[in-house]
Amino acid sequence: MALLDQPVLILGVGGVGRALVRHIVAARARHAARNRLRLRVVGLVDSRSAVLDQQGFSDEALLAFVACKEQGLPLASENPHWRVADLPARTIVVDTTASEATVPILLEAKARGLGVVLANKLPLAGPLAWWDALADERSRWETTCGAALPVISTLDTLLNSGDDVLRIEGALSGTLGFLAAQLEQGAPFGAAVREAKTKGYTEPDPRQDLSGLDAARKALILARMLGYRLELRDVAVEALYPAEMDALSVEQFLDAVDTLDEPMRARAAALTREGQTLRYVATIGDGCVRVGLVGVSRESTLGRVHTSDSVVVFHTRDFSDNPLTISGRGAGQAVTASGVLGDIVSLAQALC
Ligand SMILES: NC(=O)c1ccc[n+]([C@@H]2O[C@H](COP(=O)([O-])OP(=O)(O)OC[C@H]3O[C@@H](n4cnc5c(N)ncnc54)[C@H](OP(=O)(O)O)[C@@H]3O)[C@@H](O)[C@H]2O)c1
Repeated sequence: MALLDQPVLILGVGGVGRALVRHIVAARARHAARNRLRLRVVGLVDSRSAVLDQQGFSDEALLAFVACKEQGLPLASENPHWRVADLPARTIVVDTTASEATVPILLEAKARGLGVVLANKLPLAGPLAWWDALADERSRWETTCGAALPVISTLDTLLNSGDDVLRIEGALSGTLGFLAAQLEQGAPFGAAVREAKTKGYTEPDPRQDLSGLDAARKALILARMLGYRLELRDVAVEALYPAEMDALSVEQFLDAVDTLDEPMRARAAALTREGQTLRYVATIGDGCVRVGLVGVSRESTLGRVHTSDSVVVFHTRDFSDNPLTISGRGAGQAVTASGVLGDIVSLAQALC
């Protein structure tokens, strides 16, 4: 039996995009034997350049592009003009960028009836109009909320099953989990932030993590799946630094962050007064979404999970006494790429 030929265009050739290309090449034999599928990569696009070939690149060419990007070089010496309209029929457009600049491409792809796979959460956490256009049965976005952990597919199954999802709680940021654990152990906040940055747990600007916005975007995606018609501004977000510090450079912020030691110590002490443990948690329920520091029982699901792991707890009508829980490693470029590849295969099978 002939293999299903599935064209794929990849936007973003950073850590996740490069790992995805390697996974596609490494999984050829398995896809052929198990899924009767061959992924034909017809294009790679980064922020400055693009390479496109409707016939699909050879594996040697794909690995050479990856090696080129790893050395910090562009994909090609020039940036060819390309259009969604010229992509082969049934192409799956994969977004592994961290940019909203891809949204016009994604919207055009949807308008053409193409499939879309997102690791990039910005389009789905943007205006509701983007969500309405992108989040349908011809899209997959498993890795936007906990990398390859099956959070989105589990919620989808719960919703399809007729169960009532009453509340979702999630510790969705390994970085904030690390900081919460450090605070609980009495470490000064400033020192904990600097340690997290030195260990590579934070973004180059740690305020991107400390703002809570990344966790808020993940929570908003889950809430929108529940049917909540909310914008990001409707999410109650507890940032772990005051807004005035946004005006500082990264270096100035890292110098000034020790001024938060005492207020953060007091906040952590207040939340853990009755022997509770500190977590940075998203709570979605009763039409509202909130992300911030909370004290939780050490025996609770959120309290038992290792702080650097992600955990999502679904409280539903059918899973009430013992809620359905997904936990494990919720970050990392290679594992995220695996989740993206799973989405591509799932969508290819659904669209054929
Ligand atoms: N890393 C994780 O653990 C993880 C987990 C879940 C989800 N994700 C999501 O996965 C995405 C990728 O993460 P990453 O770690 O791979 O990021 P990254 O290393 O910063 O790579 C981003 C890539 O996107 C490209 N890009 C930027 N703007 C673009 C545009 N307008 N058009 C086309 N390409 C563009 C960049 O191009 P240049 O190469 O030219 O700069 C780069 O290749 C992010 O949205 C992230 O939130 C990551």
